[in-house]
Amino acid sequence: MSEKSPKLRAELDGIPTYKPGKPAAAGGAVAYKLSSNENPYPPLTGVLETAVAAAGNFNRYPDMTCAALVNELAERFGVPAEHIATGTGSVGVAQSLIQSTAGPGDEVIYAWRSFEAYPIITQISGATSVRVPLTDGDVHDLDAMAEAITERTRLIFVCNPNNPTGTAVRRAELERFLDRVPSDVLVVLDEAYREFVRDTDVPDGIELYRSRPNVAVLRTFSKAYGLAGLRVGFAVAHEPVAAALRKTAVPFGVSQLAQDAAVASLRAEDELLGRVGALVCERKRVHDALLAQGWTVPDTQANFVWMRLGERTADFAAACEKAGVVVRPFAGEGLRITIGETEANDIFLHAAEAFFKEL
Ligand SMILES: Cc1ncc(COP(=O)(O)O)c(C=O)c1O
Repeated sequence: MSEKSPKLRAELDGIPTYKPGKPAAAGGAVAYKLSSNENPYPPLTGVLETAVAAAGNFNRYPDMTCAALVNELAERFGVPAEHIATGTGSVGVAQSLIQSTAGPGDEVIYAWRSFEAYPIITQISGATSVRVPLTDGDVHDLDAMAEAITERTRLIFVCNPNNPTGTAVRRAELERFLDRVPSDVLVVLDEAYREFVRDTDVPDGIELYRSRPNVAVLRTFSKAYGLAGLRVGFAVAHEPVAAALRKTAVPFGVSQLAQDAAVASLRAEDELLGRVGALVCERKRVHDALLAQGWTVPDTQANFVWMRLGERTADFAAACEKAGVVVRPFAGEGLRITIGETEANDIFLHAAEAFFKEL
């Protein structure tokens, strides 16, 4: 008798799988991982000690409400604690945002190319992705995104700065866009890289959220705060959106290690943001050097640079790897290179220079 396999939801057919950044190659050669936009600095001693102390109790469930972290964040941003919802990384919160707003027959709009989780979490929910191409300068085309809104639109992601291009939209254009979005459509400002922004015309989403009930802001401890492996992120959103996020979150999703380390990181913010400052200096050095070598590289406000190499993408990724740095290729489009340790950035720049000369 032939056994039938369990029935799975048809929406999952053809779903793209999330491609994590390739690890640095093992095996003796110097190898740096510049493929996942991680923070190259090791954990601060105090933060590590806090996490280790929390590990002593991991026979217990964590605080499901993340109360200490939520209160710390509420104070830090001057928002009501009820407006903060935590999750397993900001990607976990992004998934809850979609589950809270969209299902089969609904539409989710985002720029493309942008964060590769958007199509995945949209498809899982059964909603339809509406991808709006970036402009020729690799920036969000907010006018085209506003024009893409229909009565089926439930959620719009604006990734600012955008992953993988690093480009950012500015205050006036973003406010003009938000004015065009109907009040019953949720706009999610994904600010995973907010702490790396230095352009003062790029708005802080939390300021925009205050007067706009249909705006939610996503932030993470994975990048500037260096807690990528602990999985903790959060949204700042008005009710009833924040309440919906608490309903749809995986119960006990954020471990006590993550909660305590996040609180400790907020309290060590001066030191952590000093590291961000150093990475921003490295970003400028790398960006300037690439321009001097002759490359066209868009301005970046994040902890990575974007190089649109089209058909040469795979070759350049291979050349970088051979030189000792693993970068993130998007086949046929371009490469995203995380700003890492100075030595890693130097290896990358040498590889870029050599590759350019051969073009
Ligand atoms: C734009 C953007 N949003 C969200 C995330 C998710 O980060 P995490 O789930 O680690 O908070 C990333 C990670 O790369 C990202 O680039």
